Amino acid sequence: MTVESEVSAESGPRFLTKEMRKKIEEITGRYPTRRSAIMPSLFLAQEEYGYLCDEVLLEVAEALGVPEVWVYEIATFYTMFNTTPVGRFHIKLCTNVSCLLLEAGSLLSHLEKRLGIARGETTGDGLFTLSVVECLGSCDTAPVMQINKTYYETLSAEGIDQILEELKARPADGGREGAPA
Ligand code: FES
Repeated sequence: MTVESEVSAESGPRFLTKEMRKKIEEITGRYPTRRSAIMPSLFLAQEEYGYLCDEVLLEVAEALGVPEVWVYEIATFYTMFNTTPVGRFHIKLCTNVSCLLLEAGSLLSHLEKRLGIARGETTGDGLFTLSVVECLGSCDTAPVMQINKTYYETLSAEGIDQILEELKARPADGGREGAPA
């Protein structure tokens, strides 16, 4: 991925609508510096588009008036930001210490087997993307996974099967609560 700007006066913005730019301006008003508004602005864009392509990152940088590399660094460092397309349900399984001690490793194998994909991949029907992440901040309820905006705690293989079945049965327009976070 390049951070060289292609968003110029010639091509013009293609992703951030006037309304989104207005919201970004509102967001910046809540912080002492415009740099501090990068993360909430990225959340706003990701909520709209599902993931953050290069052009969106560049337009966010341009809207905030900050160097593109600042936006790029944040978008690629934090696992809550997707810089490639993800499935309708983005599973993020924690494999950090507390979860690992409580069988997160075997739960990962279970998920890979059930979904027929490896970590970092998306199912052919576009329903599920499987990722492995660092601590989700819920160690007391380990093992934990996050699917879009929802945490699933004290996981077991049986519990995961049930969760997957529930998600598969969810109507296509009934999952917005779970829009990529
Ligand atoms: S180690 Fe998994 S939530 Fe903290």
